[in-house]
Parts: sequence; structure tokens; C-alpha cells
Amino acid sequence: MSSSTQLLIRSARILLPNDEFLVGDVQIKNGKIIQIAPEIDNFPTDKILDATGLTLLPGVIDPQVHFREPGLEHKEDLFTASCACAKGGVTSFLEMPNTRPLTTNQATLDDKLNRAAQKCLVNYGFFIGATADNLSELLAVNPTCGIKIFMGSSHGALLVSDEAVLEPIFATGDRLIAVHAEDQSRIIQRRKEFAGISDPAVHSQIQDETTALNATKLALKLSKKYQRRLHILHLSTGIEAEYLRQDKPAWVTTEVTPQHLLLNTTAYEKIGTLAQMNPPLRSPENNEILWQALVDGVIDFIATDRAPHTLAEKAKGYPNTPSGMPGVETSLPLMLTEAIKGRCSVPDIARWMSRGPAIAYNIPDKGAIALGYDADLVLVDLDNYRPVLREELLTKCGWSPFEGWQLTGWPAVTIVGGEIVYNRGQLNTEVRGKSLKFC
Ligand code: DOR
Repeated sequence: MSSSTQLLIRSARILLPNDEFLVGDVQIKNGKIIQIAPEIDNFPTDKILDATGLTLLPGVIDPQVHFREPGLEHKEDLFTASCACAKGGVTSFLEMPNTRPLTTNQATLDDKLNRAAQKCLVNYGFFIGATADNLSELLAVNPTCGIKIFMGSSHGALLVSDEAVLEPIFATGDRLIAVHAEDQSRIIQRRKEFAGISDPAVHSQIQDETTALNATKLALKLSKKYQRRLHILHLSTGIEAEYLRQDKPAWVTTEVTPQHLLLNTTAYEKIGTLAQMNPPLRSPENNEILWQALVDGVIDFIATDRAPHTLAEKAKGYPNTPSGMPGVETSLPLMLTEAIKGRCSVPDIARWMSRGPAIAYNIPDKGAIALGYDADLVLVDLDNYRPVLREELLTKCGWSPFEGWQLTGWPAVTIVGGEIVYNRGQLNTEVRGKSLKFC
């Protein structure tokens, strides 16, 4: 954006930081919000975006995605993934280290940052992956949103499951540690017990609720021992949520995915291996307990864990199918549809999908529509419903577990750093996001 670029969003229903709505105008200059008022006059008409009938929310910060570049670009790449983000109202993302090569040192982090600077339509940040022997890199690399530890459901160097190897990572430094909490030894044992079963529903039995709880308890134990900042990724079970309700130190946060709130084990009958992810989908009762924990603040925010795999890979037949599903194009409308149903409020959604991740990861000037904040914004249409259609998806993998779902709250316009990156079906692929700062 050139320094003189200005934009006026006119007549939007603006979500203010105090959770109230104001019908009015937002003035943007140099990528920042500089004025919010019922009416702002004397503005050049060619710089005015008419938002009558639309609701203006802070852009979504998706704090857990897998975008596959470098090395796995047949599934997705940073350009296609960021196009999907722009369409979904996601203006910033935090991406995981299980690419090829793994993101485990400064050189591989720099490579991702360079690629993102060239290709990404939205703002980006990257995790550094823990291995058994890269402790010094975990502490030294910059910029990163935090250390990712796969306690389970991984293989190769990124799997760090033994307490003896985990403990020094928790004991050293103060950088945020984000854990994929599944007990790898239990997974290995149960894979043997259930060997030979090709019904993908068995995935939820193999990697059962205890598998998740065991690892969450271990991560909490180590975090408490060293008072180490811990984030528990994609909480999937009611037992973990209830455990955290009883005992969640102030320095611990957690998140839930839309699919763990809205899909459950009945999905295997309808979409087979497209429902396969790690940690797996759970029973409908778990959906309810996770929702309550989110509403009560035990769970802090929402992440998609977007992890695309091709339809050919998903057709291989369980257990040869990879786990994971796409999500950034549908997360905001999925959650806003629940808000309109009365399950929560629209400000709750903005708190869980924008402000919450910004606070947890110390990302300055993002996550709210406030003076001096970055103009990362999304205008959503809360009056109309449209289905999730495969042919409209921008992700390279080309499918969604939510196909056919009738949703409201679809983004009409997405703005990144004051520039319109998506406008009613049209992408501006010239827009580039920025590397996120973590204070
Ligand atoms: O299902 C998953 N797939 N969960 C993860 O955490 C990783 C992901 C992947 O990278 O495919």
C-alpha cells in the first residue's frame, strides 16, 4: 500500500472494542484505522467502499494452520492457501513446522518468511518445530510465534513424546510452547489392537479420549513445574476441558477447532476419511462439553488446524489415509451461523477468532476495530444464507468436510493492511501481507 492510500468504509455495522455495534464509517490511512464515526464527510468518492447492510469485524487470526510449503505443494502452497484465507476473512495466520524440510532452525524459518513475503495475500507468522536435539535453535530463532511440539501423531524428527526429552524444552527459556497433545505410546499400542480394520471410524477409537488426556496432563505437569507459557492446541475432548476447568494456570491457554465443535463421529458414515483428523472427531456429547467450555472461557479461542490433503490421498483407504482437513474458507461463516442460531454472540466470535489469538500470541495492534489498530478487517453478510460448494473453494485440495452446509456470515469484503484483498468473489492477488510481530 502506498503511504498516501486511503479508504473509507461507509455505513457498516461496526463491532467496537466494547462489544457494541455502531452503524457508521471507518477511515483508513497508511494501513491503520484513524477514525471511526457515525459519518465521515469530505472523502473522495473513488476511495469509498459502500458497506450498507454489512457487519464489519476484525479480520480473523487463525492461530493454527498447515499450508504445506515448502515440500508438499501438491496439497497446498502459500499462495493458494492465502487466497483461501482472503476469501474466508482470515487476515493473519500462524503456520506449523511439518513442511519439507521441517521448520526447525533459522535457515528453514527464513526460507518460509521469504516465500511468504513473495506470495502471501495475508499476514503470516510461523512456528519453530521442536526435535530431540534443537533446543538452542528453539531459543534463538526469530521471528516466531512459538515452539510447536508434536507429543504424538507425528513421525520422524518432529515427534517429541518422551518426558525425558520434553522436560529440558519446558525447563529452558520462556518462549510460548504449543503442544499437539496425544500420547504416542498409547497410539502405537492401540494401532496394534485395532489392526486390520479399514472403517475410518476406528480412528476415533484408536486415538481415543484417554490418548488426548494423557498428553494434556503431561504438558500441564511440565508447564506447572517450570511455570512455562503453554498453549494446548486443538482441544478435542470433554474430559480435557473439564480437567482444565479444575486446574488451568494463568499462563496456560487452549483452543478448539470448528470441526471439534460441529462435527462428530457420525461424520464418518457420511464423508468417510474426509472426517479423519488428529486429534480425531469425538462423540456428540463432546461437542456439547467443548461448546460450554468455550462459552465459559475455559477454552480461549478458535483455530482451524487447516491441514489439506488431496482427494486422491484421502481415497487410499484407512489406515493409509492422511489425517487432516481444510478450514480457513469456512471457519468464520460456520461460527457466525452458530451465533445467529443463538449459541453465542457475534462479539463472542470476534473475541474467539481475532482478539483472543492476538492477545495470546502478543501480536500488537491487531484483533480489534480501534484507533491506531491495523486495518485488517472483514465485512460479513449476516442476512443471507449460501451453501458450501466444492466448485467455489479456492484451496488446492478442492474439498471441504462442510460441503452442502447452509451458512450465513460469508465474507463479502476482506481488507489486509488497508487494502481490499477480496471483494464479492474477486481476489486482488497483488496485495501482500506482512510478517507478524510477536512482542
Ligand atoms: O489431522 C491433522 N493433520 N492434525 C495435525 O495436527 C497435523 C495435520 C497435518 O499436518 O496433516
